[in-house]
Amino acid sequence: MNRDASWAYRNEFHESFARTYFRRFGDGLVSSIGVGTYLGKPTDERDDDYYAAIREALATGVNVVDTAIDYRHQRSERVVGRALADSDVDREAVLLATKGGFVPFDGERPADPAAYVREEFPEYEFVRGNCLDPDFLDESLDRSLENLGVDSIDLYYVHTPEVQLERHDAETVYDMLEAAFTRLEERAAAGDIDHYGVATWEALRVPAGHDSYLSIPELVRRARAASDAAGTTSTHLRALQLPFNVRMADAFTVESHAGPEGRQSALWFAHEAGLDVFASAPLVQGELTAETELPDPVAERLDATTAAQQAINFARSAPGVTSALVGMGTPEHVAENVAAGEHSPLGADGFDAVFE
Ligand SMILES: NC(=O)c1ccc[n+]([C@@H]2O[C@H](COP(=O)([O-])OP(=O)(O)OC[C@H]3O[C@@H](n4cnc5c(N)ncnc54)[C@H](OP(=O)(O)O)[C@@H]3O)[C@@H](O)[C@H]2O)c1
Repeated sequence: MNRDASWAYRNEFHESFARTYFRRFGDGLVSSIGVGTYLGKPTDERDDDYYAAIREALATGVNVVDTAIDYRHQRSERVVGRALADSDVDREAVLLATKGGFVPFDGERPADPAAYVREEFPEYEFVRGNCLDPDFLDESLDRSLENLGVDSIDLYYVHTPEVQLERHDAETVYDMLEAAFTRLEERAAAGDIDHYGVATWEALRVPAGHDSYLSIPELVRRARAASDAAGTTSTHLRALQLPFNVRMADAFTVESHAGPEGRQSALWFAHEAGLDVFASAPLVQGELTAETELPDPVAERLDATTAAQQAINFARSAPGVTSALVGMGTPEHVAENVAAGEHSPLGADGFDAVFE
């Protein structure tokens, strides 16, 4: 993504949307609704549906695409690559994000996954399919570039590093992350990625001391050390990904990251540290689409029509969230969800009311 192309994209679409639909990401602009590609079977039919949905999203005001090498056994990355290549939208207008850290099967789950891993990746140690070894991430990144058919990835996440805490103590995991970050700083210097981030499920929203906890200030320190080691002038750590929805609003409510004046929520600390937050699972993987779970007065203020739109706008309204990543493999869902952007997000007082 570059500045000029993302601004041109915004200029083409912004009149269809309410205020703050497009938001800053570095010197560029991104839509506050992104398309995610996690769920669904690893089938050709689902690939076709994702292809149509991603093209529809790009053509109607969504310039954030989120995937991961292991999603649907590399099929999601490959379909993102096809959709992007065939779209009329300029590649440079799009924030393309993917993740590495889990074993990527190749198109389908092998009959004997353990044997597959032993054969394909004999040199690495995995914890539930997760590995942060810099060489493994290097290989994954190369494969992602190929799957996506691009020269460079805008945002490359280390995927769910908290899994490593099941086997290693926190200090060891931070050391592993620093080594991974150092390699990613090098890949950024080589032009293979623009930025990197950390995509989490539990790590950043649980209380300090929880078994899955990772501290954002420590991640930032490790990224600075990685930048020094790699000789990059400043760190390329730019983003965090975590779930955010009315059932999982801990990134706003749980104060677990040590700031200058005491502990802060993940969203607040990230905001002050200049890190963008991308919210995953805004619909609780589809569960919030039938009926809203927001308190009535808040749902009314959200001014959006459907339960899905309300859930998406709730996530987009959270202070510190740059974009809500919505899993969409059905074009009709894209039309409904993107229309959420026609409504303004909640202001701070409206958002706070959810927690009163
Ligand atoms: N970092 C992580 O650990 C992590 C974890 C989970 C997800 N993510 C990222 O975040 C993205 C979003 O999370 P998610 O996909 O797990 O969950 P989600 O966005 O909360 O929900 C996606 C599900 O809702 C359905 N849906 C979407 N719009 C709908 C509508 N208007 N009406 C009815 N159903 C609708 C989708 O169906 P269709 O697909 O058929 O449209 C899909 O089954 C993922 O795709 C992925 O990119 C990251």
